[in-house]
Amino acid sequence: ESGLNSLDTFTDEEQMLRETVQRFAQDVVAPKVREMDENEMMDPAVVKGLFEQGLMGIETPADFGGSESSFTSAIIAIEELAKVDPSVSVMCDVHNTLVNTVIRKYGTKEQHEKFLPLLAESQVGSFCLSEPASGSDAFALQTRAKKDGDDWIINGSKMWITNSYEANVFLIFANVDPSKGYKGITCFLATKDMGIQIAKKEQKLGIRASSTCTLNFDDLRVPGANVVGEVGKGYKIAIEILNEGRIGIAAQMLGLAQGAFDKAVPYTYERKQFGQPVGTFQGMQFQIAQAAIDIESARLLTYNAARRKDEGRDFTKEAAMAKYWASVVAQRVAGNAIEWAGGVGFTRETGIEKYWRDSKIGAIYEGTSNIQLQTIAKAIQKQYS
Ligand code: CAA
Ligand code: FAD
Repeated sequence: ESGLNSLDTFTDEEQMLRETVQRFAQDVVAPKVREMDENEMMDPAVVKGLFEQGLMGIETPADFGGSESSFTSAIIAIEELAKVDPSVSVMCDVHNTLVNTVIRKYGTKEQHEKFLPLLAESQVGSFCLSEPASGSDAFALQTRAKKDGDDWIINGSKMWITNSYEANVFLIFANVDPSKGYKGITCFLATKDMGIQIAKKEQKLGIRASSTCTLNFDDLRVPGANVVGEVGKGYKIAIEILNEGRIGIAAQMLGLAQGAFDKAVPYTYERKQFGQPVGTFQGMQFQIAQAAIDIESARLLTYNAARRKDEGRDFTKEAAMAKYWASVVAQRVAGNAIEWAGGVGFTRETGIEKYWRDSKIGAIYEGTSNIQLQTIAKAIQKQYS
C-alpha cells in the first residue's frame, strides 16, 4: 500500500482488486518495464496476464466473462498499473473505459454476445477517432462509410490509435453523410481480419511500450449488424465515452505521479551529503511535501469524478478537471523526482526518468489540456450565464 493513499472510501471488493493489481504489477509487469520501453513493444505475457487477472473486462457483466465491477474499480486498476508502467495502464484504460464501455452501453444484444466475451478473455480493443487532419477538432473527421446492400464500405485513415498493433477489435468512427456535418458520424465495429492495415507504428518520447499506429481503411467492408448505436449518433457516443475515459487518464497520471514519488523519496533518506540524508534538508522536505499535496489533490479529483460517475450524477466538468490537474501533477512530480535523485535519477537504471517521459502524454491524449479547460469553461458559463 502506498504511504500517500489517504482515501479510504473504497469497498472491500475494490480494496481487494487494488491488492490483486498491485501484486500483478509487481510480479509480472515490473520485471519487464525497462525492456518493453527500450524495445518499444508490449510483452505478450503482460497482455495475457491482463486477461488472466480479469483486468480486460472489469465492468463487463459476469454472463459475458467479465468481472462485473464498478467504474471506480477500473480506475483503481488503471492507477495501480500506472504506478509500475503507464504503458500497461493505458492499454487497460483504452480497452476498458473506451472500447468495452461503448459496446456495453450502445451495442445490440448480438454485439454484446459476440464481442464482450472476446474482449474480456483474449482480444485487445482499439478506439479509432483521431485522424491526421482532425485531433482536437475530432468531429471534422474525413473517414467515410458508404452503404452497399446490407454492408458498409469504409475508406479513410486513422492516426494515433493506441493498442492497434495488438488489437483484433476496432471501434471506427466514420461519416456516412458529410452534408449533415458531425451528425453523419457513425460508430462501426470491425475486426482485424476484415482487412485493417497498419500503415505506421510511431516512435515516441514516452509510453513507448504502448502501440500507437496509423491505420488505413481501403474499402473495408463491415456488416450492417456492426453499426454501434444509431447511424448519425456516433459523435455523441464518442464524446460521452471520452467524458468517462478522461477519468481513466487522470488515474493513469495519478498512478504515475505516485510511482515516481515512491521510487525517489526513499532514496533521499538513504543518500547522504554534508553528513545527513539529502531528504532532511528543508529545501528538499518542502518540495517533497508539496509533491504530496499535489498527488493528494489529483487523487481526490480523480476518485470524486469516478464516484460521481458510478452514482449516475453529472461528472463531465469534474472529469475534465481531474484529467487536467493530474497531468500537471504527474509532470511536476516526475520532473522533481529526477532532481531529488540527482545524477542517478537521470539514468535509465533507476526508472525515474521514464515516469517523466511518460507523463508528457497526459496533457495531449483524450483531449489536450486546452480542450479540458474549454470543457470546464463551457460548464461554468452554462451555470453562471
Ligand atoms: N459531452 C457531451 N457532449 C458534448 C461534449 C461533452 N463534453 N462536447 C461537445 N458535445 C456535443 C454537443 O452537445 C453537440 O451535440 P448536439 O449537437 O447533439 O447538441 C456536439 O457535441 C458538438 O458540440 P460543439 O460544437 O460544442 O463541439 P466542437 O465541435 O467544438 O468539439 C469535441 C467537440 C470534438 C468533442 C471537442 O470538444 C473535444 O473534446 N476534442 C478532443 C477530442 C478527443 O478527446 N479525442 C480523443 C481521442 S481518443 C484518445 O485519445 C484515446 C487515447 O489516447 C488513450
Ligand atoms: P491538435 O488538435 O492539432 O492540437 C495542437 C495544439 O493546439 C494543442 O496544444 C491543442 O491544445 C491546441 N488547440 C487545438 N484546438 C484548440 C482550441 N480550440 N483552443 C485552444 N487550443 C487548441 N486518438 C484516438 O482516436 N484513439 C487513440 O487510441 C489515441 N491514442 C493516442 C495515443 C498517443 C500516444 C497520442 C499522441 C495520441 C493519441 N490519440 C488517439 C490522439 C489524441 O487524442 C490527439 O493527439 C489529441 O486529441 C490532440 O489532437 P492533435 O494531436 O491533432 O493536436
